[in-house]
Amino acid sequence: MQPLSSSCRSSSSRYTTKSSTPFAGLVAAALLLCFVSPTSSCTEQERSALLGFLGGLVPGGSGSLNVSWLNGTDCCQWEGVLCSGDGTVTDVFVASRGLRGLVSPSLGDLAGLKRLNLSHNSLEGSLPAELVFSRSITVLDVSFNRLDGHLQELQASDTNLPLQVLNISSNLFGGQFPSTTWGAMRNLVALNASNNTFTGQIPSSLCTNAPLFDMLDLCFNQFSGNIPPGLGSCSMLKVLKVGHNNLSGALPPELFNATSLEQLSLPNNFLQGVIDGSHIAKLSNLTVLNLGSTGLSGKIPYSVGQLTRLEQLYLDNNKMSGELPPALGNCSNLRYITIRNNSFTGELSKVNFTMLDLRTADFSLNNFTGTIPESIYSCTNLVALRLAFNQFHGQFSPSIGNLRSLSFFSITGNSFTNITNTLQMLKRCKDLTSLMMGTNFKGETIPQDETIDGFENLQVLTIDDCPLVGQIPLWISKLEKLEMLDLSMNQLTGPIPSWIDGLGFLFFLDISSNKLTGDIPAALTKMPMLLSERNAAKLDTRFLELPAFWTPLRQYRTVGAFPSKLCLDNNNFTGVIPPEIGQLKMLDILNLSSNSLTGEIPQEICNLTNLQTLDLSDNQLTGAIPSALSDLHFLSRFDVSNNKLEGEVPSGGQFDSFSNSSYSGNPKLCGPMINNDCNSRPSSASGKRRNNLRPALVIGITAGGLIALILLACFLIARLAYDDHTENVVPLRSRR
Ligand SMILES: *[C@@H]1O[C@H](CO)[C@@H](O)[C@H](O)[C@H]1NC(C)=O
Ligand SMILES: *[C@@H]1O[C@H](CO)[C@@H](O)[C@H](O)[C@H]1NC(C)=O
Ligand SMILES: *[C@@H]1O[C@H](CO)[C@@H](O)[C@H](O)[C@H]1NC(C)=O
Ligand SMILES: *[C@@H]1O[C@H](CO)[C@@H](O)[C@H](O)[C@H]1NC(C)=O
Ligand SMILES: *[C@@H]1O[C@H](CO)[C@@H](O)[C@H](O)[C@H]1NC(C)=O
Ligand SMILES: *[C@@H]1O[C@H](CO)[C@@H](O)[C@H](O)[C@H]1NC(C)=O
Ligand SMILES: *[C@@H]1O[C@H](CO)[C@@H](O)[C@H](O)[C@H]1NC(C)=O
Ligand SMILES: *[C@@H]1O[C@H](CO)[C@@H](O)[C@H](O)[C@H]1NC(C)=O
Ligand SMILES: *[C@@H]1O[C@H](CO)[C@@H](O)[C@H](O)[C@H]1NC(C)=O
Ligand SMILES: *[C@@H]1O[C@H](CO)[C@@H](O)[C@H](O)[C@H]1NC(C)=O
Ligand SMILES: *[C@@H]1O[C@H](CO)[C@@H](O)[C@H](O)[C@H]1NC(C)=O
Repeated sequence: MQPLSSSCRSSSSRYTTKSSTPFAGLVAAALLLCFVSPTSSCTEQERSALLGFLGGLVPGGSGSLNVSWLNGTDCCQWEGVLCSGDGTVTDVFVASRGLRGLVSPSLGDLAGLKRLNLSHNSLEGSLPAELVFSRSITVLDVSFNRLDGHLQELQASDTNLPLQVLNISSNLFGGQFPSTTWGAMRNLVALNASNNTFTGQIPSSLCTNAPLFDMLDLCFNQFSGNIPPGLGSCSMLKVLKVGHNNLSGALPPELFNATSLEQLSLPNNFLQGVIDGSHIAKLSNLTVLNLGSTGLSGKIPYSVGQLTRLEQLYLDNNKMSGELPPALGNCSNLRYITIRNNSFTGELSKVNFTMLDLRTADFSLNNFTGTIPESIYSCTNLVALRLAFNQFHGQFSPSIGNLRSLSFFSITGNSFTNITNTLQMLKRCKDLTSLMMGTNFKGETIPQDETIDGFENLQVLTIDDCPLVGQIPLWISKLEKLEMLDLSMNQLTGPIPSWIDGLGFLFFLDISSNKLTGDIPAALTKMPMLLSERNAAKLDTRFLELPAFWTPLRQYRTVGAFPSKLCLDNNNFTGVIPPEIGQLKMLDILNLSSNSLTGEIPQEICNLTNLQTLDLSDNQLTGAIPSALSDLHFLSRFDVSNNKLEGEVPSGGQFDSFSNSSYSGNPKLCGPMINNDCNSRPSSASGKRRNNLRPALVIGITAGGLIALILLACFLIARLAYDDHTENVVPLRSRR
């Protein structure tokens, strides 16, 4: 065995250079080494191929490799290198080593290399064709790097390459995706090219020569054109993921010949047409069917009931319509279903939802009618249920309390009745963290009932736009984990309760558009979560079970991502804005508009350095606008219109970006922004002129020269002339 002896040679030579052990000891050590490690040393050519790779990395970009990758040593012993018994390098596994630099084509000289894993590094440049078209490599994983450029097309397609697994995902590859190359890859099993910017068509010949082809992931690219019918001949294909591309056209009938498919995932494309019942029924192995945001129309075919292995069904954001087929109830292994944002109609109770594994169900934004099917209450593992924006009605039955895992429940925008009953039934769902039930319970009284308790884990409660009558009830004070409370657009009366600062996690309070009265209470200026950064860190950062849509375009995945907000606008609040409001340093949005607040805008409001929105419009505020408000660098919406403010509109900072409508309806305000010159008004003008004079006077005195005074006089005359001019162009009265 020639390589064995070469291993002994190199070991002994390494030994001699490093020690002065007597010769006998050396021989013994060498023999021992030969005995315990029968592996042989790599060849000189392999060593230099690997050193060539090391040399392609930038200085300092070789991680820990340069510790063991030393010329003159056996490369079979190098970190991340594996050899076969005869000393041939077979595996180079250097994933996640912090490597930076280029991928040297010299790796292609490793004639026996079978597996090359360079994933999760920061490698740049192109992927050498020598590796993709290698005569030995079966597994090539370069995912999660910064490789770019095209993938070359293989010229001679009559060859037979050994590559089985190619993972080039999450790089910066782009350009036209190769089409003919794949004909030579007769052993290809898995191809993951997702998360690049490839363009062109999906190759149709991927498995014509590769009978074992099993996985194709081309998600997150820019592929266009139709889904190639040729994929249907991939008889072993289990996973087909081509979501988030620009594919168009209908689902080709041939595709459904690929009956081994377990995951068919094509979301976020521009498809059209319908899901054909006889076709989909052929894919009886499907566990994941994701056709969300594709543009498909038509009904959910009855034959969906034959997909009894289905665990995840996504048909959201399409143009689908009609009633749900009762056969959907046969998909008893469903764990996740979303048909959100379509035009489905009819009664949900047509389907028997006894699906014990169901965790997430989203039926929102459709036109479902009727009541909530009792069968849904048997899904004891249900974590998230969204029924929002349909035409459901009726009351909830006590069995909703069976949903012991329910955490996210949204029924917003329906015609449910009896809010007292709803809360009494739901309080048994101890895990509930988000409860959204606005736009229901038309005109009912918000329960003041002391027996409403048990929502110990509730973080989000929205009961807006019902409209409910009554006072803000005491039971809300017991929701100790509450972070967001929206009671806006009701007919609530009475004061803001003084216990409000007892809600230690509340950072989002919207009680706008009610008939609330009284002062802004001191308690409101002591809300712990709005006081300081340290408190805000206590917020729960877990992901919501379903993203919450606050506006159609804005979705939030965590509660903590919502802005800190205090909206008291459009009520009957009176009294002054308490200066203590300046303590609420975490506030992003403050709206006190459309009340009957009096007094001045407190200077302390300038301490709210996070503020993005400040709306004080439509009150009876007097005095000046604090000029330090220009220090609020994030302020993007500002409105003090329709008050009784006076003096100069501040300028500089964010103030230069607000339009003059922010100030309208305050006849005594002045400044260039609103074309109402301060100098023309006797009271405020004197102050301003003094300011303008002061530097001029200083110059005059220090220079001590008569010329300066003459110049000053000229300046003043010119300035007055200018003022007259501007007044003539835009008469004062035009502001109203
Ligand atoms: C490794 O050592 C050999 C022999 O000393 C030498 O020929 C070769 O150039 C060296 N390779 C590298 C990459 O330094
Ligand atoms: C490559 O290494 C990464 C990181 O250890 C691993 O997750 C991945 O499965 C490996 N690739 C292959 C094809 O085994
Ligand atoms: C790349 O894809 C292959 C085939 O699917 C897979 O085995 C490997 O784990 C993937 N690599 C990473 C880093 O996920
Ligand atoms: C393909 O790679 C991406 C990461 O780049 C990974 O998220 C995805 O799960 C992989 N696809 C398959 C089917 O394993
Ligand atoms: C896409 O690639 C980038 C960069 O490697 C990575 O940060 C991101 O997580 C990847 N996205 C997916 C969906 O795998
Ligand atoms: C593939 O599908 C087409 C259209 O559905 C059909 O005509 C053809 O017979 C199928 N081929 C095979 C091999 O099943
Ligand atoms: C629901 O039906 C109404 C009229 O019947 C229609 O105006 C509305 O667009 C439908 N909504 C959806 C989401 O399909
Ligand atoms: C729903 O299905 C379950 C389990 O298959 C069954 O026990 C129950 O009787 C069915 N309910 C109705 C209303 O058909
Ligand atoms: C509302 O629910 C309560 C408690 O379940 C019940 O006592 C009351 O009769 C219901 N009211 C109506 C109008 O159905
Ligand atoms: C503040 O509240 C008023 C009255 O409800 C509303 O019209 C206005 O749009 C709100 N301001 C902002 C900036 O949202
Ligand atoms: C407000 O600004 C617009 C355009 O910038 C201007 O046309 C208008 O006259 C201004 N109005 C007042 C009252 O200054």
